[in-house]
Amino acid sequence: KLSSTKDLLLNAEKGGYAVGAFNVYNLEGVEAVVAAAEEEKSPAILQIHPSAMKQGGIPLVACCISAAEQANVPITVHFDHGSSKHELVQALELGFDSVMVDGSHLPFKDNIAYTKYISFLAHSKNMLVEAELGRLSGTEDDLTVEDYEARLTDVTQAREFMDETAIDALAVCIGNVHGTYPANGPSLRLDLLKDLHTMSSEKGVILVLHGASGVPKELIKECIQLGVRKFNVNTEVRKAYMDSLHSPKKDLVHVMASAKEAMKAVVAEKMHLFGSAGKA
Ligand code: G3H
Ligand code: 13P
Ligand code: ZN
Ligand code: NA
Repeated sequence: KLSSTKDLLLNAEKGGYAVGAFNVYNLEGVEAVVAAAEEEKSPAILQIHPSAMKQGGIPLVACCISAAEQANVPITVHFDHGSSKHELVQALELGFDSVMVDGSHLPFKDNIAYTKYISFLAHSKNMLVEAELGRLSGTEDDLTVEDYEARLTDVTQAREFMDETAIDALAVCIGNVHGTYPANGPSLRLDLLKDLHTMSSEKGVILVLHGASGVPKELIKECIQLGVRKFNVNTEVRKAYMDSLHSPKKDLVHVMASAKEAMKAVVAEKMHLFGSAGKA
């Protein structure tokens, strides 16, 4: 059933687990997430990035909403990384249940103003608002230590950001990155996550970790213990899709079916790891 992202994340908070938000691009992706959620009796978030919107547009959103409505477990539809007012204002009209306001490319005060504007509009529609503070580095960015540190989420700034914007969820930058991690794995600043959680829990703001693909199981579990309630997963699911195309089956319907199965397996594994399996 179509549910609310706020309910999903508040239940996760009560239960001490996290919900996966999986980036979807097409029908197979949507079906993979919903089928995994039903099989694992797990809540799930279908999320659409602007790059996916460019390809699938309104029909992709409609596909997510329809699949969520027909599912026998709670599913929500989230707009990921809205980095312009234009695309977010459009998203507010399309039936998404929640949005991420990504002002991480802006200076702090501008990020506040931008996030506050969208937060006000989204709250008038009862939508959950996620925003990012700090800046997620790309694997390939090749930063100096100082640059890298400057991109981490600052606790004092995060407190002011929450007070000013009234966001419901904060995407933290603690060394997590989109895409893959170096061969020696991610080094996440769990001390910083702990401080952010102490502060955010006073304010009732939920913590989100982007870039969850490639984060080892033990580290995911530590993040959950330190308050992360939503993990964004994109790369590992996309990779499963692409790898499935090497199968000798060449017929279109078979290609679609094996892509769906490959993505479903990754999603189901994450649901177990995040602790959301069995919670629907
Ligand atoms: O937020 C994630 C975007 O969908 C890009 O993810 O680094 O896996 O291409 P990617
Ligand atoms: P990954 O591609 O590392 O899974 O990150 C996904 C993400 O943060 C989408 O917003
Ligand atoms: Zn992200
Ligand atoms: Na990642």
